[in-house]
Amino acid sequence: MTRVGAASVLAAVMLLIPACKKENKETPAGSTATTGAATGTAGAEKKPAGGKIALLLPESKTARYESHDRPHFERKVKELCGQCEVIYSNADQDASKQQSQAEAALTNGAQVLVLDPVDSASAAAIVTRAKQAKIPVISYDRLITGADVDYYISFDNEQVGKLQGMALVDKLKADGKTGGTIVVINGAPTDNNAKLFKNGAHSVIDGSGLKIGAEYDTPDWSPDKAQQEMEQAITAIGKDKIAGVYCANDGTAGGAIAAMKAAGVKPLPPVTGQDAELAGIQRIIAGEQFMTIYKAIKPEAETAAELAVALAHGQPAPAGKVNAKVNNTQKDVPSILLTPVAVTKDNVKSTVIADGFWKADEICSSSYQDACKAAQLQ
Ligand code: BGC
Repeated sequence: MTRVGAASVLAAVMLLIPACKKENKETPAGSTATTGAATGTAGAEKKPAGGKIALLLPESKTARYESHDRPHFERKVKELCGQCEVIYSNADQDASKQQSQAEAALTNGAQVLVLDPVDSASAAAIVTRAKQAKIPVISYDRLITGADVDYYISFDNEQVGKLQGMALVDKLKADGKTGGTIVVINGAPTDNNAKLFKNGAHSVIDGSGLKIGAEYDTPDWSPDKAQQEMEQAITAIGKDKIAGVYCANDGTAGGAIAAMKAAGVKPLPPVTGQDAELAGIQRIIAGEQFMTIYKAIKPEAETAAELAVALAHGQPAPAGKVNAKVNNTQKDVPSILLTPVAVTKDNVKSTVIADGFWKADEICSSSYQDACKAAQLQ
């Protein structure tokens, strides 16, 4: 009788062991302490097996969010916690829409918010709301300023701007255009990252001898607005007098290149970008865009997912991940910062393709086949 009783208790306990226990087995070997008992079953036993995790992304005109951030995040959450649910929203560049989406997620029982803010400053109101409900907030990719956020995960964004600036300055030097006039197209002024990219770029461009003939901050990071800005710059500077174009990301680079092609700028001057988005890489292979920045979004999204699953279950962050502190004017936020890489035609293969970000077949679709052969991608 006692043995039967014990067996049924054991069976019941087995059934009750949270699905998220799996997390301990599957944490990458690199992060040793993550597998320790401190983050393991002791904490998980007190919590329900599932959990609701809100992922709030800022926009969809930039390709990365739907093509990389969201799928990698959702897949990793499922892998770590089969019964967890991701409440996903995209704000389409509308800060008040994002506020409503965050409130809806909280009402819906989200146990953690992973928030990539449309507006780095006004998103502090979302954090205040979450904190009233004792819900932790992870600032994803963009820093939420002036707020009590729990963690920040991103790249070294000032370094992104420096790499872009250096690539442009070095290329123009190599082409003998040291004193040329360039156009500078920055990102959205409401995005803290855009400020960091801009600071990083200026730290290299200012003092390089290049002249800035026109400079814009691009509301909403909109490629269409970047195109209009470039049209204005062409009118102001003259279509044959532009030595290079600094664009903060591939979306704005696409807009600027479209404006130059429409105005008959030939040959196209070197243009920078960021995100290694498919269209950007294809333009690089075809010789229309000079460079982009590859940010490995998979580890960014997956680490955010690991952190979110832990926080949703009241556990501490996986050990060995936090590698920086970033001040957001309210506090030093424990941060995980990843390293950006500059990509030109020469290293597409050893970076984005080698890392599985894009397959050669995806890049080399019909109209890019010749360019791909010339670049020895296929
Ligand atoms: C991201 C970039 C992205 C841009 C526009 C920035 O905060 O870091 O990767 O291109 O926003 O969405």
